[in-house]
Amino acid sequence: MSSTGNLNDKFDTSFVYLFKYIIIGDMAVGKSCLLMQFIDKRFRSKHDVTIGVEFGARIIRIQNVALKLSIWDTAGQESFRSITRSYYRSSAAAIIVYDITKRNSFENVVKWLDDARENGNKQITFLLVGNKNDLEQERQVSFEEAKQFAQDNEIGFMETSAKTNYNVDQMFTKLAEIILFKIQKGIIDPKNESFGVRVGSEYQKYLASISNDSKQDEKEKNQKVDPQLEGKYVQLNDPAVETTKQKNKTCC
Ligand SMILES: *[C@@H]1O[C@H](CO)[C@@H](O)[C@H](O)[C@H]1NC(C)=O
Ligand SMILES: *[C@@H]1O[C@H](CO)[C@@H](O)[C@H](O)[C@H]1NC(C)=O
Ligand SMILES: *[C@@H]1O[C@H](CO)[C@@H](O)[C@H](O)[C@H]1NC(C)=O
Repeated sequence: MSSTGNLNDKFDTSFVYLFKYIIIGDMAVGKSCLLMQFIDKRFRSKHDVTIGVEFGARIIRIQNVALKLSIWDTAGQESFRSITRSYYRSSAAAIIVYDITKRNSFENVVKWLDDARENGNKQITFLLVGNKNDLEQERQVSFEEAKQFAQDNEIGFMETSAKTNYNVDQMFTKLAEIILFKIQKGIIDPKNESFGVRVGSEYQKYLASISNDSKQDEKEKNQKVDPQLEGKYVQLNDPAVETTKQKNKTCC
C-alpha cells in the first residue's frame, strides 16, 4: 500500500466538504496514472502494478467552496476484488476506467458497474472514463459506443488521457460539482458519512457566509450546477477534439 500527493494536503482539514472517490476498472487501464496526473501533475510511463489500494488527496475549489477529494485507487486484479468491494460503501463517487485500445476492458465495465451498484451507497455518483485517448490509431472502442452505454446506464462519461493530461482535472471536478449539487439539493446529507462525504473545519464559516448572502445570490449559486447532471449522462468532450497522434504505447 502506498500513497501519493502532498503530505500537507492529506492532513489539512481546512475544507468545507470532503468527498471520497474510488477508481475501479481492469488492470493496466491507467487508473494509477490518472490519479498521479491529478495529484502530482506528472505522468509515469512504466506500469507499476497497484497492490491493494493507493491513496491520493487534493483540495479543489468549486463555486468558491473548498473541497477535499480523497481518492482511492484500487488494484484491477480479480484477487483484490473483495478488498475493493469494502471501499464502495463509503464512496461518494465511483470512476470506472477502461482503456479505449482494449476492447476487453470496456466489456468488463458492466461487471464493475454491477459490483459498485450492489455494494455502494444509494447516492453514489458514477463516471465512465475511456482512458488513453491519445492512442487514436489503436482505438478499439468508439466514443459513440461508450457514450451510448453511459446513456443507457444513466451515468456520466468522458474520454481522458493521463499521458497528455487531457480531461484529467475535468473528470475529478465534474464529479465534485455533481456531489456538491446533491448536497445543495438535500439529496446527500454532508454530515452522514455513509454517503462518502464529511464536513471540514471551514463548514461553519461557509454556512455563515451563505446565510448572509441574499436569496438571489443563493439562487444563482445553485444554478451554476446544471440540474440535468444529476443521475444523467454528461457530455463533456468531443472525440475529434485534442486527439494527439502519439503512437508510443505506454501504460496510460
Ligand atoms: C445516514 O444515511 C443512511 C442512508 O440513507 C441512513 O440509513 C442512516 O440512518 C443515516 N444516518 C444518520 C446518522 O443520519
Ligand atoms: C454575517 O453577518 C453577521 C451579521 O451581519 C456578521 O456578524 C458576520 O460576520 C457575517 N458573516 C460573514 C461570514 O460574512
Ligand atoms: C516514441 O519513443 C521513441 C523512443 O523512446 C522516441 O524517440 C519517439 O520520439 C517517441 N515518439 C512519440 C510520438 O512520442
